[in-house]
Amino acid sequence: MAEKDKWIVKCPKCGRINQSCQHISRQDVERIVQLLKAGVEVYESEEEMEHLEEHLPRPDRGKLYALTPPRFDLGDVVMGKKTREAIEDALVEIRNKGLIFQRWGMKKVIRKNKGLSLLFAGPPGTGKTMTAEAIARVLKKPLMIVNYSQLENMWVGETEKNIEAVFQEAVKNDAVLFFDEADAVFHRRGMTLAPWTNRDVNVLLNHLENFSGVSILATNLARVMDRALDRRIDIAVEFEIPDVEMRREIWRKLVPKEAPLAKDVDFEALSKKYVLSGGSILNVVRQAMRTALKRGKRHRITHDDFVKAAERELKKSDLMSRDHMTQWKIEPRQRLGGYA
Ligand SMILES: Nc1ncnc2c1ncn2[C@@H]1O[C@H](COP(=O)(O)OP(=O)(O)O)[C@@H](O)[C@H]1O
Ligand SMILES: [Mg+2]
Repeated sequence: MAEKDKWIVKCPKCGRINQSCQHISRQDVERIVQLLKAGVEVYESEEEMEHLEEHLPRPDRGKLYALTPPRFDLGDVVMGKKTREAIEDALVEIRNKGLIFQRWGMKKVIRKNKGLSLLFAGPPGTGKTMTAEAIARVLKKPLMIVNYSQLENMWVGETEKNIEAVFQEAVKNDAVLFFDEADAVFHRRGMTLAPWTNRDVNVLLNHLENFSGVSILATNLARVMDRALDRRIDIAVEFEIPDVEMRREIWRKLVPKEAPLAKDVDFEALSKKYVLSGGSILNVVRQAMRTALKRGKRHRITHDDFVKAAERELKKSDLMSRDHMTQWKIEPRQRLGGYA
């Protein structure tokens, strides 16, 4: 096809080019160009599409995931008691897998030498991604972040191959597999708005079940997760909006020692007054720094800078919660050996 910027739209009736006519309105012309630029392809039948497929380049598997060396330690994450205990359970099992499965005989009970899969559920910004990185770091493994938008492919059967490729690569790299925002895929099968076909979800679930390494799924919406996923999850870890003590600690961790603070800054008051997630606190810190900088480089960050930024952040998170984050709740289960 021609270069992307040189689309020519021609009316089949009167032959006018790139202009509106009595058959095609200007909006039509604009819309067509817009869609073509976005890469929309139109086929008259499935046969035509299959025929074309042979001549089109296959999607690049290289971008199905990102392998990253983990940046965070477990000590960087401020966790509530329940969360920490569940993470400790996971680490104990991973570290003693040989013992549990071989010497203590769990292999005979489970009949499969499987890995461990964790579900991280909780509101945005509560440290799920961070903790996934920290776990990979403790285990001295890279974190493999799966890119759904690349996995899912319009070519029939291609999504399945992509999923296979991802799991193969995870084994090859001895990586911790991370499905961030897993609700995008593991929605309840049969839900109409589901972007993934049931078949693809099944394929993914099966691979997950047979994966011998550590896999972590993170979600903001535990409620809409597929029930079949439940059986494949060994330990569910709930991440909560931090309480006042945790917030105090998060403020301490997220405001660097080097930051030029005015004398009046009172983190105790900020922790008490503003119920914010760690991610939101991070936003507030950065915004307060920007506000101070706008006054000039020599200016210190004042308490008022933090207050204004916190008010703003609260409004933002309130908007988001009204949008799609209506109360979610999961049964936190911490089952050791409760495999399906
Ligand atoms: N519990 C926490 N302890 C310390 N920092 C946190 C915590 N939660 C969030 N943060 C900060 O917010 C950032 C975003 O958090 P993230 O792990 O991406 O949240 P989630 O994945 O749950 O949406 C982190 O990189 C960290 O700086
Ligand atoms: Mg995240």
